[in-house]
Amino acid sequence: MKTVGFIGLGNMGVPMAANIRRGGYEVVGFDLDPARAKAFAQEHNARATDQLAELGRACDAIVTMLPTGREVRDALFNMQGGALAANLRPGAFIIDMSSADPVGTRELGKDVAARKLVLVDAPVSGGVPRAKDGSLAIMIGGDADAVAAVKPVLACMGNKLFEVGSLGCGHAMKCLNNFLAAASFAAASEAMTVGRKFGLDPAVLADVVNVSTGRSFVSENLLKQHVLSGVFGTGFALGLLAKDVRIAADLADQIGVDAPVGRLISGMWADARDALGGEQDHTRAVIHWEKRALPSAAE
Ligand SMILES: NC(=O)c1ccc[n+]([C@@H]2O[C@H](COP(=O)([O-])OP(=O)(O)OC[C@H]3O[C@@H](n4cnc5c(N)ncnc54)[C@H](O)[C@@H]3O)[C@@H](O)[C@H]2O)c1
Repeated sequence: MKTVGFIGLGNMGVPMAANIRRGGYEVVGFDLDPARAKAFAQEHNARATDQLAELGRACDAIVTMLPTGREVRDALFNMQGGALAANLRPGAFIIDMSSADPVGTRELGKDVAARKLVLVDAPVSGGVPRAKDGSLAIMIGGDADAVAAVKPVLACMGNKLFEVGSLGCGHAMKCLNNFLAAASFAAASEAMTVGRKFGLDPAVLADVVNVSTGRSFVSENLLKQHVLSGVFGTGFALGLLAKDVRIAADLADQIGVDAPVGRLISGMWADARDALGGEQDHTRAVIHWEKRALPSAAE
C-alpha cells in the first residue's frame, strides 16, 4: 500500500492524516471545504484534490474521518455522481475512522463489497491531543485479512490498536465508550452543581474526587482544565458527542436491549445541544444543565 486518500480534514482528520504522511505514505486529502484540503496539503507536504474520481484513481486505501456514517456513504456513493466508488480499483480498502452507527456500517459493508471494495471500521479515542502525537486508541472491526492489510496505516495514528471483532464492532465499541464518557461527564456536572449549592468549592471537589473512588477521565482531564477554567476547548463538539450517545441508545433499541441509562444520558446531551448549538465544545453542556438545575441562579 503506497497512497492513502484522506476524506474529512477537520479537528481530528488533519493531525491523523499528517501522521500517515509522516509514516511514509503518499497522502491525498479531500474535504467538502476544498480550502481545508489545500491548507493540509501545503502544511504537510501532501496532495489535495476536489475531484473524487481523481482520489479514487490515485489511492490504494481511503480513510474517512467524517461526522457520521451518512457522510461516509455520501462520499463513497453519492457525491460527484458516485465517482469515488466507481474509480477505486477492485480490492481497495475503505477505512472508516469516523464515529458512525454500527448497524449502518454493516449495511454499508454490503454495498461496498458489491463494488468489490473492502470496508474496515476503525474509530478512535483520545481526542485532538492524542491525534496529534499519534497515540490514539483504535477499535478495529472487519475481516481478519483486511484488518491485517490496513494495520500499518492505522499504526501511524495510534499506539493502542484493538481488533474487536467483525465489521461494525469497532463502531459499537466506540459508541459504548463515548456513552460511558458522556454519562461520567453528566454525573460530574451534577455533582459540581449540588456541591456548589451546598457550599463546596468545585475546584476542591475535583481535587478530592481525583484521589478518591469517583475519579474518571472526566474528573482528571476536563473539570479543572476545561470547565472551571472557562477554557471549554477540547476540540470535541457538543453535537458530535450527542450523536455518539444517541448511536449507543439506538443500538440498544435496535438489538432489543432495554437501556434506561442510555436513554436518559442521550436525552440530556440532546437537550444541551439543542439549547447551546452543536458546534460548541461539548464541555459547555455544564452551563446548560446548571441553568436548568438552578433556574433562579441563572436570572
Ligand atoms: N474531535 C474529537 O475529539 C473526536 C474524538 C474522537 C472521535 N471523533 C469523531 O471523529 C469524527 C470527526 O470529528 P472531528 O472533530 O474531526 O469533526 P470536524 O467537524 O472537525 O471535521 C469534519 C470534517 O469533515 C468535513 N466533511 C463533512 N462532510 C463531508 C463530506 N460529505 N465529504 C467530505 N468532507 C466532509 C468537514 O468539512 C470537516 O472538515 C466524528 O465522527 C467524531 O465523532 C472526534
